[in-house]
Amino acid sequence: MFSEMLVSHFRELSTPFHYYNLDLLEKTLQQLKVAAGRYNYMVHYALKANSNDEILSIIKEAGLGADCVSGNEVRKAIEIGFNPNNIVFAGVGKADDEINISLDHNIFCFNCESVQELEVINELAIARRKKANVALRINPNVNPNTHHYITTGLEENKFGINPWEFEVVLEVLGQCEHLNLIGLHFHIGSQITDLSSYRHLCIRVNEIQHWFLERQIRVEHINVGGGLGIDYHNPDKNPIPNFEEFFKVFDDFIELRPGQQLHFELGRAVVGQCGNLITKVLYVKNGVNIDFAILDAGMTELIRPALYQSYHTIQNLTGKGEERHYDVVGPICESSDCFGKRVSLPETKRGDLIAIRSTGAYGEIMASNYNLRKRAKAYYSNKFI
Ligand code: LLP
Repeated sequence: MFSEMLVSHFRELSTPFHYYNLDLLEKTLQQLKVAAGRYNYMVHYALKANSNDEILSIIKEAGLGADCVSGNEVRKAIEIGFNPNNIVFAGVGKADDEINISLDHNIFCFNCESVQELEVINELAIARRKKANVALRINPNVNPNTHHYITTGLEENKFGINPWEFEVVLEVLGQCEHLNLIGLHFHIGSQITDLSSYRHLCIRVNEIQHWFLERQIRVEHINVGGGLGIDYHNPDKNPIPNFEEFFKVFDDFIELRPGQQLHFELGRAVVGQCGNLITKVLYVKNGVNIDFAILDAGMTELIRPALYQSYHTIQNLTGKGEERHYDVVGPICESSDCFGKRVSLPETKRGDLIAIRSTGAYGEIMASNYNLRKRAKAYYSNKFI
């Protein structure tokens, strides 16, 4: 993955920094397009995973739509050139100004998460003399078998409208003349590797569609969200998720009515593997049972291990000695600032370059300047060739 030439370029840069392999991003998009194209599925890229301009431009060029969760993401998608007709806006707490921006840009659809939100969008649309397309985000109560912090489609989660509210929703929709119900939306969670969760989702979608059809409500669009996971353990062996297998589950199990369009909102699966955090070893010190490798990157550059106990492959790009175990930690004043425990690395010394892999999604975008640290720069593979 990292040639000697690339590592020698890395040595000239000040660390830590994010490094994006754009070639891998292009290949991922290519495979995604072929797999989704087979069934004529529409994919919206979830900007929340990574919204760097360079990355977004490539994704836009590949023809994906955009899935936004804030007014600023809607603005960003428009600025990059995504067609407003392909922009969806989800989120459990859309503020009035965020709704207004989206109305002004005539986005494709609001994924609405509560009865009250429907009423507010209707009022704001009346004030602007517009009609808003809405999809109901439904909580399907399906377990995605992933970390509980990134589970979204269970009854106990704050997201979506629960089935026991459907009657009220229909009543309210009947009174909201500036809303146009065009779809049903679902999203069960993130970093999902067990595809049977998606099979369960399809079965729930069929049941829910049936409920609406019984009441003569037939929508043109079904959106099943995102969540497809990546292989954090083997980024070189599996750099691109198996999109073919993923879409086949939907083709096999979801019952689409004639003319209905199926939509997806993928984030991590698109950008996760193309990003890496490159950092330097500041110190190696002896602990009680293990040595610590202390890096110049910390939870300020990549918070996922601290927040979700998530695993990222860690590689020493310059060390050559015998393999040993290290607790690989950052410089931040928090014990959770740890990238990995008992990580096997070649003998590691001050000044060695370390790569933390698969950081393209929810890496740089979740950075903070806690401890008054400055933001790490991003570099792109096309600048090194
Ligand atoms: N659609 C909706 C409504 C979402 O809430 C999300 C992610 C996505 C699509 C995209 O999901 P993806 O395909 O990327 O899994 N920071 C966490 C992940 C949070 C995901 C939030 N919602 C992490 O680092 O694992």
